[in-house]
Amino acid sequence: MHLRCISLLTAAAGLALQPAGAVPHSPRDQDAGTCKKTTVAILGGGIAGIAAAQALANASVHDFAILEYRDTIGGRAWHKPFGKDKDGKPYIIEMGANWVQGLGNPGGPQNPIWSLAQKYQLKTQYSDYDNISTYNEHGYKDYSHLLSEYDDAYDIANAKAGEILLNNLQDQSAQSGLALAGWNPKKHDMEAQAVDWWKWDFEDNFTPLESSLVYGCAGDNLTVNGFSDHDNFVLDQRGFNTIIKGMASEFMKENDPRLHLNTEVTEIQYSKDGVTIHNKDGSCVSAAYAICTFSLGVLQNDAVKFTPSLPEWKQTAIQKFTMGTYTKIFMQFNETFWPKNTQYFLYADPAMRGWYPVFQSLSMPEFFPDSNILFVTVTNELAWRAERQSDEETKQEIMAVLRKMFPDQQIPEPTAFLYPRWSTEPWSYGSYSNWPPATTLEMHENLRANAGRLWFAGEATSPTYFGFLHGAWFEGRDAGQNIAAIMQNRCVNVESDKLRECGPRKHWETLHGTTPLADYSALTGWMADSFLNTNSE
Ligand SMILES: Cc1cc2nc3c(=O)[nH]c(=O)nc-3n(C[C@H](O)[C@H](O)[C@H](O)COP(=O)(O)OP(=O)(O)OC[C@H]3O[C@@H](n4cnc5c(N)ncnc54)[C@H](O)[C@@H]3O)c2cc1C
Ligand SMILES: *[C@@H]1O[C@H](CO)[C@@H](O)[C@H](O)[C@H]1NC(C)=O
Ligand SMILES: *[C@@H]1O[C@H](CO)[C@@H](O)[C@H](O)[C@H]1NC(C)=O
Ligand SMILES: *[C@@H]1O[C@H](CO)[C@@H](O)[C@H](O)[C@H]1NC(C)=O
Ligand SMILES: *[C@@H]1O[C@H](CO)[C@@H](O)[C@H](O)[C@H]1NC(C)=O
Repeated sequence: MHLRCISLLTAAAGLALQPAGAVPHSPRDQDAGTCKKTTVAILGGGIAGIAAAQALANASVHDFAILEYRDTIGGRAWHKPFGKDKDGKPYIIEMGANWVQGLGNPGGPQNPIWSLAQKYQLKTQYSDYDNISTYNEHGYKDYSHLLSEYDDAYDIANAKAGEILLNNLQDQSAQSGLALAGWNPKKHDMEAQAVDWWKWDFEDNFTPLESSLVYGCAGDNLTVNGFSDHDNFVLDQRGFNTIIKGMASEFMKENDPRLHLNTEVTEIQYSKDGVTIHNKDGSCVSAAYAICTFSLGVLQNDAVKFTPSLPEWKQTAIQKFTMGTYTKIFMQFNETFWPKNTQYFLYADPAMRGWYPVFQSLSMPEFFPDSNILFVTVTNELAWRAERQSDEETKQEIMAVLRKMFPDQQIPEPTAFLYPRWSTEPWSYGSYSNWPPATTLEMHENLRANAGRLWFAGEATSPTYFGFLHGAWFEGRDAGQNIAAIMQNRCVNVESDKLRECGPRKHWETLHGTTPLADYSALTGWMADSFLNTNSE
């Protein structure tokens, strides 16, 4: 039987709020008294932070403060003006999130991002990943049969991943899973390597070797089968973050004093009684609860100081999950010299996997008609490399590739050229997270768990939709709903983890390996005198 959160609307009675004086003990204790007071401090104004605030507002908790580094909300849904159209007006292009991924089928569950897109009339266009032509260093070369070979193997690997998940067996890397299923690209088969990159890295940033088979496939399943296999590319000239601003407008007015833009959090003091946040400008906020939605990259880069230091179980989880970089490099030309009826162009470089591997045309009638805009995407190692280079260096490398792909064309210099440096953006340090091989759900629970009154939410804390806007939305909502329920004493049965549906999150102090100590013996080839072979003479 399920014990449910009982909705007691005696909210105020449940507010066991510590007065501001009871915030953590530290040398700054006396400061806390002079800090601005709020009930819930929401750290970060990306989609997770705004969803958390909306969930609080929906539960009648209106006393919150959102602290945001940048001068706008939206976070990694971030756009910039680029190039110009026939009237000399710049196009708005997305530096970050660009697709609504997995829209939802009629009658089936809808991706909440797609619901928001419809609500705010976001302009999008179906993005057909099968609309792709293949190239190598000598120009067009049809190796599209490899795309279907990969897909066939993926279906087998995916079914196997499901079995591993259901039976709680040992995870594999996606590479080993795919190899066992018949997709085993040779190191020197650069066309197969290009296909491997397009089918895996293009989504995950990391290689199949660096990715969990089980959670990679499960995540894909949940979005593709759970919603739908349709992805729409966002073209809206208000920017993708229009939907996040729309959400915010439902519970905050213009210039709402609860929204603190241009506010860089530098230190978070937390305890079981409350949280005090210190900002770079010297201001501070003391709160009963806080929700930290900073990216995994921000957490991994020690960009914010935690006092006390985060517990080891939390730090281990933060460093175990991986933050990838996905860099779109935009170019506008004075003409469309590439085939006008194709969306994607896959390039197999003879020397290096992932070298300017996929170009995408925005010049087609359904996108930005006759815009002559093309962009190329690089990930991780090669993204970091491009991000370290000057625009000019990167441009020349891309021009060399385009000349190889289209040997019969005169390729003009781009008239506009732009790309973000995600790996060094101090409010993101990377693009989105990934789940590495041999990493259990328990480890992920530690990434997600609260430390005292400090909660965590965002893209990376979603075990099902990490890497996606919808993952961040679900996680923000969940943290907001839980905190509201705790404050309003609506979480009953908190002592029994099995039965409760809300309340503080579980973490694991010790994550166990899977091999009993007794198996470390001569029988298993563990040729050591003592367990760790630390003989004292
Ligand atoms: C290049 C790229 C492509 C992507 N493509 C897609 C896609 O096509 N589809 C999709 O669904 N998802 C995509 N994503 C992922 C998607 O953007 C994220 O999952 C989502 O935006 C994360 O939301 P969030 O609220 O968890 O984090 P964020 O959006 O990062 O929000 C966190 C907020 O915290 C703020 N912050 C950080 N540090 C501090 C500090 N010290 N003080 C104060 N504030 C701080 C940041 O400024 C930010 O606004 C992409 C991401 C990138 C970067
Ligand atoms: C808040 O409530 C509105 C109206 O019911 C709903 O559309 C929205 O999704 C809710 N937001 C969250 C984050 O729960
Ligand atoms: C790609 O899409 C265009 C129309 O948008 C179509 O004309 C073309 O045939 C498609 N090509 C492939 C390979 O599917
Ligand atoms: C994904 O879905 C397929 C088809 O429904 C299923 O066979 C497979 O086991 C699932 N895989 C995972 C990892 O959940
Ligand atoms: C584009 O510019 C090149 C020179 O860089 C020129 O040769 C070409 O004619 C131009 N194309 C158009 C359509 O103006």
